[in-house]
Amino acid sequence: MQPHHPLDAVTHPAPYPYYGALARGRPLYRDSMLGLWVACHPDTITAVMRHPAARVRPPAEPVPTGLCPGPAGELFGRFVRMNDSALHSRLKDLLATFMREQGLVQPPPRAWLPATPLDAASVDRYLCAAPVHAQAAFLGLGPALHADCAADIAGFLLALPATAGAGRITAGHAAAERLQTRLASHLAGPDAPPALRRLSAGAAQAGIAPAMVAANLAGLLFQSCEAGAGLLGNALILAGRRGATAALTHEEARTLVGDVVRHDPPLHNTRRFLADGIDIGGQRIEAGQTVLLVLAAAAMAQPEKDWTFGAQGHACPGGEAARRHAADALTHLLGAGVDAAALAARFRYRPLPNARIPQFHFSEDSHP
Ligand code: HEM
Repeated sequence: MQPHHPLDAVTHPAPYPYYGALARGRPLYRDSMLGLWVACHPDTITAVMRHPAARVRPPAEPVPTGLCPGPAGELFGRFVRMNDSALHSRLKDLLATFMREQGLVQPPPRAWLPATPLDAASVDRYLCAAPVHAQAAFLGLGPALHADCAADIAGFLLALPATAGAGRITAGHAAAERLQTRLASHLAGPDAPPALRRLSAGAAQAGIAPAMVAANLAGLLFQSCEAGAGLLGNALILAGRRGATAALTHEEARTLVGDVVRHDPPLHNTRRFLADGIDIGGQRIEAGQTVLLVLAAAAMAQPEKDWTFGAQGHACPGGEAARRHAADALTHLLGAGVDAAALAARFRYRPLPNARIPQFHFSEDSHP
């Protein structure tokens, strides 16, 4: 049975023919059941992304209200990912330059080794933590801080849903405060790598406060987490289907991760929120509406472009690092004896509206 709608497709076992049909036949349409406009063709997605009225956050709620006031809200509000302010493009350019420069000088960080035993539950935990460990190493943070970063990103993420209870929100504020402080002292400290010092200097020249830069280093950890978990998890499944073993080299793992990016990507959609009415593809979308940008559909129309990493002003600056970190973690998992074929034979996807992240530990009668 094909997916019922684009959000259902994210966790569908075989959604790609459906995405292909959407890209060909439904470039832009209104889904009244979901209460969303849906853009599926590269041209309509690009037109929405380019439109100044199409924002990354709802104009009336730049930060989730549950996080305000407090450190978690402050941190969230500073992320370039969540911002269309004048500062965005300048800081985004500096961050992208940093990612590029650091990627050139830094040898592939040794992936953090999973704890044994490597059962399905510990693989699930590893998927979420490994990308943050790798990104923390990439930023030059000392190994003693990597696990703290992963735990704090997890705590911060748990506070984001509108349904988060008081306990999670309090823990999310504490995690955000630690992240902000940790990254600020790293930025100003003796271990900051040269590329990070250049980022600091560039930010100072542009009048961007150090607290803003530090928050966005935490933002790099934050952005690496869920998408990185999906990239590694889907790579593990493909490795299992292809019969990959502990002998898989880093180059072979890179190729496999590239195949995942193209054929079973970890992020299927993103959203834009309209501050004003816009005219796109001969249709009028009113202010206040939300547009779902179905990146996985665009990728069916343009397989040569990495649509899963987004496009235009908010395109992901972490694509190269994410691929490298996923390949590294995959070879480590296989080398540590994970049975990828057994994992690929039994999994389901976490019930998320945009990310395709497998879950290997669950009981048959539990709901996702
Ligand atoms: C090292 C890991 C990663 C880092 C550091 C990272 C960082 C970022 C940052 C900072 C942004 C915000 C850019 C902006 O708003 O201007 C972003 C956006 C994005 N990232 Fe990544 N990312 C990582 C991994 C991934 C992965 C694995 C995927 C999917 C395969 C991904 C897909 C995206 C997409 C689709 C966007 C754009 C969202 C939108 O336009 O609404 N990222 N990333």
